[in-house]
Amino acid sequence: MKKPKENKDDSGLPAEQKEVSVSRRRLIKSSVAGAVGLATSAGAINRREKKMKPVLDMGRTDVDTSKFDPTTYLTSFDYGTTSTLPNGQTQREYSITATDQEIEVAPGVYFNAWTYNGTVPGPTIRCTEGDRLKVNFFNAGSHPHTIHFHGIHAADMDGVFEPVQPGESFIYEFDAAPMGFHLYHCHTRPLKRHLHKGLYGAFIIDPAEGRPEAKELVMLMNGFDTNFDGENEIYAVNSVAFHYEKHPIDIQQKELVRVYCGNLTEFDLLNSFHLHGNMFKLYRTGTNLNHYELTDTVMLCQGERAVIEFTYEHLGKFMFHAHQSEFAELGWMGVFNVKESTLA
Ligand code: CU
Ligand code: CU
Repeated sequence: MKKPKENKDDSGLPAEQKEVSVSRRRLIKSSVAGAVGLATSAGAINRREKKMKPVLDMGRTDVDTSKFDPTTYLTSFDYGTTSTLPNGQTQREYSITATDQEIEVAPGVYFNAWTYNGTVPGPTIRCTEGDRLKVNFFNAGSHPHTIHFHGIHAADMDGVFEPVQPGESFIYEFDAAPMGFHLYHCHTRPLKRHLHKGLYGAFIIDPAEGRPEAKELVMLMNGFDTNFDGENEIYAVNSVAFHYEKHPIDIQQKELVRVYCGNLTEFDLLNSFHLHGNMFKLYRTGTNLNHYELTDTVMLCQGERAVIEFTYEHLGKFMFHAHQSEFAELGWMGVFNVKESTLA
């Protein structure tokens, strides 16, 4: 959360220099290995000075969506490569590679991310409860990483105690349980850094009987500290500020919409999802199909998630956004465009 900047204004330095010196002090202080930390932070700051300049280029109105398109991400599900095991169980095999990758979080605003398969969030891993999952993880990044899956599995598949070094690989193998909306993310220390850098994704375990037919959308709430002050300057769902306001999500009148909404925001204690002109069914963690709360706002801690279902009676444009107005104004804002149904 951005706090008033006035109390930092006693250095007598020009704004940019001042920000850099504050960031550097904090990075050194927080670094476990001082010398490595200094080298990393100095490099990062130099890149930042270069990269922040295009912010002033007001000619650009959108990010380059050829690298990552949040609209495409909404409905992209990775079901893996399937095969049948001798016992009849379905096996799904996934390939995930960690890379260092620059991403664009607002027009001309770049962030030096660490990613799974080149994007933040990483691919949405989807399966059915009881499937055998085999996740081939390769670390092509510059730091040790892991994949920690939420859900039920053996201790040595938890992605916590076996950091995978750069250039090395690891196979995570477990049965998908329980059904619900889960997450996966890196669990290497310092966790705050590895998460904020972008190593996370959605993990959906469908119930064996399935959920009712719906338009399904994945929304991971996140934020980016672009000036190294330990606070987010950019907020979004699926990384790009204001993307779904610029590119409203089309839905049809009376169509059932299901949003898999999770919170991966670092630095802030809470984030939230608020829907206009409607109420939604809230299934916390998506782990049951019967019990829900009817509301229009849900507050989620980092790592919490929910399955949200609704249908619109009325046509037109309806906002959805964080109910923390500050987050909404810094990018976590979108629009559903309800159109006349073409459904039979
Ligand atoms: Cu990591
Ligand atoms: Cu977690």
